Amino acid sequence: MQPLEYAVTGLDLDQKTILDAAVGAGRATAFWAEKLSGDRASSRIIGVDIDLPKEWRRRIKERLGENMKYVELVEGDIFNLDFLANESIDIVSCADTIIFLNDKPLRFLQALQEFKRVLVPGGDLIITSEYSSEDMGPGEGQWHRWRLSKCIFELIGKTWSVEPEPREVKKALEILGFDITGERDFPAVKIKNYGETMDEWKNSMQEKVKEMAWSEEFRKTIAAEVNKVYEQVLDEGYLLGPAKYIIKARKKLAGRSGMLWETGLK
Ligand SMILES: C[S@@+](CC[C@H](N)C(=O)[O-])C[C@H]1O[C@@H](n2cnc3c(N)ncnc32)[C@H](O)[C@@H]1O
Repeated sequence: MQPLEYAVTGLDLDQKTILDAAVGAGRATAFWAEKLSGDRASSRIIGVDIDLPKEWRRRIKERLGENMKYVELVEGDIFNLDFLANESIDIVSCADTIIFLNDKPLRFLQALQEFKRVLVPGGDLIITSEYSSEDMGPGEGQWHRWRLSKCIFELIGKTWSVEPEPREVKKALEILGFDITGERDFPAVKIKNYGETMDEWKNSMQEKVKEMAWSEEFRKTIAAEVNKVYEQVLDEGYLLGPAKYIIKARKKLAGRSGMLWETGLK
């Protein structure tokens, strides 16, 4: 079974408002929207992303085609979903995104707290996330891509991604007042159609290299390394999608909010 098939298994998708956090290239959005076509056409998806330039909106629309009618795209920050009222969402899908929400230890808890706020009591939160790239084994272009991305961000004082372990995510959810309703692992897969992802990666990394406050020679060395990794991944003929896990959680119907509430975290 594909990860996203497992994500929707057992969910009632009739007359639901679904939050897709974050949209990115729209892969998960397209999957959920497809599930809404036909009998569940009364449901809708609100797709949020902090970065939704025109070109990406166009690509997402192209990817979804007809099914775009179920989706509203909103530029917004997962850490502050103020445009959504308390208890206004039935299902939150957070696909391949929490690793980018964890630049400081426990930072992603703030996002989970926001998901809890907008979810109706008994609402479902489905988290799909990557295991650490360390598990991929050396020699794979994808491994180099992840390591190099992390290094480049470090060199400009930022954090590219931090992969929380499933037990950290589960603990965080329990603290915040969710019940864990399902969990499954998925092995790494070879992705064949990845040219666009790599082009986007190369361009964004070259932009970051320009931000480095180091010598021109050093910037040139790093920029050349980006090109080398790009070529390596293209030569390999596939992009190794890392092993993933899915954690399904349900907001408790009532009761204590948990420790974070008491510590003042929103
Ligand atoms: C890997 S992509 C998500 C993939 C997407 N779910 C899919 O299935 O194609 C991660 C996305 O998270 C977004 N993002 C990162 N931090 C965010 C934040 N604080 N609020 C909203 N979106 C954020 C990035 O802009 C990026 O588009």
